[in-house]
Amino acid sequence: MHPTVLQAPSSKLQAQDHLPHPTPHRMVTPMRHYSLLDRLLMEVDQSLRTVYGRPPVTARANPSDAIEEAELSDPERELAGRLMRINHAGEVSAQGLYQGQALTAKREDIRDQMQRSAMEENDHLAWCEQRIAELGTHKSQLSPFWYWGSFSLGAIAGAIGDKWSLGFVTETEHQVVRHLEDHLQRLPEHDDKSRAVLEQMKEDEAHHAHVALEAGGAELPTPIKKLLMPLLSKVMTKTTYWI
Ligand SMILES: [Fe+2]
Ligand SMILES: [Fe+2]
Repeated sequence: MHPTVLQAPSSKLQAQDHLPHPTPHRMVTPMRHYSLLDRLLMEVDQSLRTVYGRPPVTARANPSDAIEEAELSDPERELAGRLMRINHAGEVSAQGLYQGQALTAKREDIRDQMQRSAMEENDHLAWCEQRIAELGTHKSQLSPFWYWGSFSLGAIAGAIGDKWSLGFVTETEHQVVRHLEDHLQRLPEHDDKSRAVLEQMKEDEAHHAHVALEAGGAELPTPIKKLLMPLLSKVMTKTTYWI
């Protein structure tokens, strides 16, 4: 992983972070040359932090914090919990995707951009995790699988070329926006806390798509956009609904 990752926003994060987390180890060693083993261990650490720990977030407040909890019936609470579990798994995947791309991206500015977007995805991860706990359910038991599956896809896309990697981000984020619109419709009517989280996520994902497109993202071949990506997404959402 490039040694500059996570350096720029780190001081702000440590001062204002709304969730406790260990100090990210990759912030502290500027300009060091990492061996392949170093990088491998850092990737494993990052995956564990994403799936089981408290990855570094930005200074933004959780958009649901200011909203009062509504009275939800048991079936409504269960549905909201399942939907937020899916969204949490999506954020785990997003984190894997960006980390994989950052590992193999060729241009330094793109690596940095991937890391900035990854930080915002960690906000989403933390917000979804908090909401899952409030709704009394659990994160997907397949989270490590979602992380490493997406990491592999991201690393492959980055290795093929930056314009394809950016194009993959653009299309992924567009599809995530459509997915979030669907979930916003399906959430229980009074679950304004979950809705606030998803609304902010939708805004951020649209921004990530825009940034990747502006940076030179190429349009992906139709079979990848229309068949492969929706299929992978469907496998994840259907599975995560239950486990
Ligand atoms: Fe996200
Ligand atoms: Fe995103």
